[in-house]
Amino acid sequence: MPPTIAIDGPAASGKGTLSKRVAAHYGFAHLDTGSLYRAVGFSVLSAGGDPANPELALAAALALTPESAILTHPGLRGDDAAQAASQVAAMPPVRAALLDFQHSFVATPPGGKGSVLDGRDIGTVVCPDAPAKLFVTASVEVRAERRVKELRAAGQDVSVDTVLMDMKARDERDSRRAVAPLKPAVDAFVLDTSALDADGAFEAACAFLRTRIGPA
Ligand code: CDP
Repeated sequence: MPPTIAIDGPAASGKGTLSKRVAAHYGFAHLDTGSLYRAVGFSVLSAGGDPANPELALAAALALTPESAILTHPGLRGDDAAQAASQVAAMPPVRAALLDFQHSFVATPPGGKGSVLDGRDIGTVVCPDAPAKLFVTASVEVRAERRVKELRAAGQDVSVDTVLMDMKARDERDSRRAVAPLKPAVDAFVLDTSALDADGAFEAACAFLRTRIGPA
């Protein structure tokens, strides 16, 4: 089995940016697993359905393949898709369907060298035997500020208070759900990025990864 680097953490902790850089550094394939949950929630919403409906959510999850055009839809990055994602992510049959998708990526990553998966439960559920696990976090205020910047840069007019409230609601739902809740694996290296920029986070991650995966 090619090596897998598991990178978990809450919304806007910097795990997406970090995962892309780590994947490029090692020449591994990257899978943003949040985009799978977003795609499921967003495809139900776009068809006029309610993402809280388990049958509609499961049908959308089973229909998802690596080639699905929805995976690159710009609408996935919006807050509606994020909230819908966290609703469908609490449904065990949806998670089971997406687990199959993720396991085949890990077994045969594009390029064949290895993979970096980022999400909420990679180190705990999807790849519990991954040789390197990172849990990337930051204070909720710092994360809300980062998300506001991101959304404003994408042309969305949002207030800090709304984003902070939404983020707390999503953190709460992700951490308290019965299946695959957001929590660090016991053997994860916890990386707090509250006071680090993207370069600082990358350096800290690389220092840890060298001890587990070796040099790039
Ligand atoms: O980018 P951001 O961190 O805001 O969110 P994301 O990583 O795109 O994930 C969106 C939602 O999908 C999360 O709030 C989780 O509810 C869910 N998710 C999950 O349950 N398990 C994963 N491995 C990845 C995402």
